[in-house]
Amino acid sequence: MRNLLTGLLGLAAICGASFVYADDAKYTIKQVMKEAMKGGLCAKVAKGEGTKEDKEKLVAMFTAMGQNTPPKGDKEEWEKLCKKLVEEAKAAQKAEGKSAIKSANCKACHDKFKG
Ligand code: HEC
Repeated sequence: MRNLLTGLLGLAAICGASFVYADDAKYTIKQVMKEAMKGGLCAKVAKGEGTKEDKEKLVAMFTAMGQNTPPKGDKEEWEKLCKKLVEEAKAAQKAEGKSAIKSANCKACHDKFKG
């Protein structure tokens, strides 16, 4: 009985952990859109006007975006695109002045992935 109970507890812990892991994204796509895209954080960083915190937030937001599943389109392609955005945001993080974030193309991405 004791063994069965420990076994069940262990199983619950594993399921719980994997559930949290799968749902780990820090921001939803909508949050990223609101703050980074429509809100202008991405443009600000690309123009070289972002603070250190702005740049860190943009990298974190694009990273989280890639952990979400878009309403439509191919998940693999989505992950690739988000990875590119993260790379471009990281490049902007290092740059002193302007640094284009070319993959942040509203229409191209919406056509493919927005429901
Ligand atoms: C990398 C892909 C990608 C790029 C680039 C992108 N979007 Fe989006 N956007 C999405 C996806 C996917 C959704 C749908 C999110 C959902 O329904 O969960 C969305 C939704 C939105 C929404 C609706 C959010 C809501 O609360 O329903 C707005 C507004 C928006 N995008 C603005 C923009 C603007 C402005 C730009 C360009 C500056 C932009 N997006 C660039 C992928 C992108």
